[in-house]
Amino acid sequence: MKVGLLTSGGDCQGLNASLRGVAKTLFNAVPDVEVYGIQDGYHGLISGIWRKMEPGEFSGILREGGTILGTSRQPFKKMRDINENNIDKLTMMVNNYKNENFDALVILGGNGTHKTAHLLSQNGVNVVTLPKTIDNDVYGTDCTFGFDSAVAKAAEFLDAVHTTAASHGRIFVVEIMGHKVGWMALYAGIGGGADVILLPEIPYETQKVLKVIEKRNKQGKKFSIIAIAEGALSKSEASTPKKERKFPAGSTAGTRLVAKLSEHLEQDVRFLMPGHFQRGGEPTPTDRVFCTRLGVKAAELILKKKFGRMVALKGTSIVSVPLDDVAGKLKAIPLDCEVLAQARALGISLGD
Ligand code: F6P
Repeated sequence: MKVGLLTSGGDCQGLNASLRGVAKTLFNAVPDVEVYGIQDGYHGLISGIWRKMEPGEFSGILREGGTILGTSRQPFKKMRDINENNIDKLTMMVNNYKNENFDALVILGGNGTHKTAHLLSQNGVNVVTLPKTIDNDVYGTDCTFGFDSAVAKAAEFLDAVHTTAASHGRIFVVEIMGHKVGWMALYAGIGGGADVILLPEIPYETQKVLKVIEKRNKQGKKFSIIAIAEGALSKSEASTPKKERKFPAGSTAGTRLVAKLSEHLEQDVRFLMPGHFQRGGEPTPTDRVFCTRLGVKAAELILKKKFGRMVALKGTSIVSVPLDDVAGKLKAIPLDCEVLAQARALGISLGD
């Protein structure tokens, strides 16, 4: 049996732990299985760049950040574009898969990756996928791997900001990753003790944020921490059609909020962004266990020849769901999400 592994899209913690989970389970069940590492995600599959890997290469990587296979972003919308040789990337990938006589591919990725995995599956490739992303926005799973580790990093960042903010009586606007969804900002904000959490799912009013700061000042709390998701928008920004939004060049959700707050406050308002720090370093022990369980399940699906599926968390169980039900969908924070209500109950403002 010949199995190819690839990691695609933005990296996150736990990719290696997941690869290890898949490979160790396969080698234990079928000692003569051939496992191939495909280089840099779909780029390696398109270009035919892979190498046979030995069981020992999957040892000692449980805690290692990044991905031993490398990764790249290959936009789904370009998969059918015809190149100078009159062939598209999808066809190149399918041909490479068939010519190498792979029996299956294990694909670790987020939303874009899942759309392409689904396309491969519809074109005769035996695919099993794992839901990877710090954003936690893959549909069909209660959680993605990498999320817990990235939340830990973002919360660590907020913790550090807290002490200096309190010393100086400053306002800090901290921009947390998450363009389309706010899971990271919500969890890191609660876990890191933010006073205001602003999310793409809930357009905010600057006046409401100012009120929180004023109230805290009156209570003698001269500092405030605002966790804002990369994709958060004010109500007026959100009400403008996307193509008509004119943001200052180089601005971000966080810098725009700082500019608005600074117009009204005497206090020093600072902007910070943990950026890719959130995706770096070791996975948390919780993610290591989660990745291992997902990896074992993915290998079991291959052994049972159950393809076209993503392994997923449902409650406390690892299950699998058809790619047909996953691809092209986004898991945003539902407005009736219990965690939102709990944040509000605690007195955290969501800016609405
Ligand atoms: O999808 C994961 C993510 O980290 C997002 O939260 C963020 O918006 C984006 O990737 C950043 O992408 P890149 O690493 O390509 O700059």
